[in-house]
Amino acid sequence: MKGYLKVEHSTKLHGKVSLIGAKNAVLVIMASLILTEGKSTLKNVPFSDDIMQMIQLLRDLGAEVLFNKETHTLEIDTTFLVRCQVKKEIMKQMRASILVMGPLLARFGKVNIALPGGCIIGARPINYHLNNLRKMGASIQIEGEYLFAHAKKLKSQRIVLEYPSVGATENIVMIAVAAQGTTRIINASLEPEVLDFIAVLKKMGAKIVIEPPATIAIEGGALLKPVEHTIMYDRLEAGSLLLAAAITGGKIELPHAPAYNLDVFLLKLQEMGHYIEIGSEGIGVTLKATHSPKAVSFKTAPYPGFPTDLQAPMMVAQCLASGTATIDETVFENRLLHVHELQKMGAQIKVDGSRATVIGVDELYGTPVIASDIRGGCALLLAGLAAKGITTISGVHHLSRGYESIQKKLNDMGASLEYVDAAMFVHHNYGRIIEYQ
Ligand code: EPZ
Repeated sequence: MKGYLKVEHSTKLHGKVSLIGAKNAVLVIMASLILTEGKSTLKNVPFSDDIMQMIQLLRDLGAEVLFNKETHTLEIDTTFLVRCQVKKEIMKQMRASILVMGPLLARFGKVNIALPGGCIIGARPINYHLNNLRKMGASIQIEGEYLFAHAKKLKSQRIVLEYPSVGATENIVMIAVAAQGTTRIINASLEPEVLDFIAVLKKMGAKIVIEPPATIAIEGGALLKPVEHTIMYDRLEAGSLLLAAAITGGKIELPHAPAYNLDVFLLKLQEMGHYIEIGSEGIGVTLKATHSPKAVSFKTAPYPGFPTDLQAPMMVAQCLASGTATIDETVFENRLLHVHELQKMGAQIKVDGSRATVIGVDELYGTPVIASDIRGGCALLLAGLAAKGITTISGVHHLSRGYESIQKKLNDMGASLEYVDAAMFVHHNYGRIIEYQ
């Protein structure tokens, strides 16, 4: 996607907005269907680039996939899955491809993939995945950037994760359902998206119990059958839309927002002075922005802590609040790349290691900026809404990886966002206009 997103200064955004299913639940649930033979149906699936990549991967393995973008319904038939090898170019396009390693090993007893590699926010190693798959009986060879794994017999184990890794938890669970006996994962990730994935496995027939404090117990050996499931609503989309209203002094109602999956985030918005109303049973959130937001500090952490995927968007709100906020990014080692771009817009931010100190300013100013990852791109979009003048964001393909039609949803609330195609890519660069062919 060449070209850029043109964002004009926006007055108070307001509206009632519907959400779509969570990308980080859909991707792993799609991978888990490899464990079954037959046709499954997933509803509330977002039409975004990462989902299309996972569709391509499953088709490449031999699955039949139909995606109705209007009804957001995905039908996946894994009866004729024949391959357990994923092409390098597919693995490299999306890191989440690593999530097919566990189910392919469980189904075929072998798997051959390219290592996913790191990304801009961090090295993204997979040592927790590999070390524990070995413990469960897999023998794994790495040759260059290729990984070959096979397992004659998978063994249940008591697995201790030194860090509650989302992906490692998910891959280990998908191996454990095929291992005889009961596997326990201690210090497992219990992110809402992981719990939605576990709900699908239980619908398939898997025997899984969550035990305190953060243990997942899986009794392996059950025959898993195809399922029908409606994906949980995306709490990250909800958080991003709430911040769009907060940052522009507006009001927004999200009838589907899973408020109880956003507790710390919502607490911080309330500490800033925004009015938050939560629907019954925790379904639905309404935000009415305060006109004198106070800066609040926060630290990202595994769930139920402050979500790392909302760190960048929430930083923008601190840039325009009164006072000083310290923001600690503890999950990824390089997830402050949006700071440089926000500084170009007039934000007062100092970075020391993984801590950003933000001093609130009265205004930000539109200018050309570059998105480098999904959530950083969302942050720049939010900053552009609040900034005086026009902001042009290149690298917009990052946005379409993680958000379905966020541009339309914000325009329906009163924003003025326009995607400018590369062919007409006229780059306003410090007053000079450079015509790009
Ligand atoms: C998932 O990534 C999400 N992606 C990420 O969302 C999210 O930010 C992250 O979880 C944390 O919540 C999907 O679900 C597709 P981790 P994942 O394993 O599984 C280190 C977005 O923007 N680690 O919990 O890769 C790792 O380097 C994306 O939607 C190891 O050291 O995250 C990181 O520092 C970005 N060794 C930390 O753990 C390992 O073997 C958390 O990673 C695995 C992870």
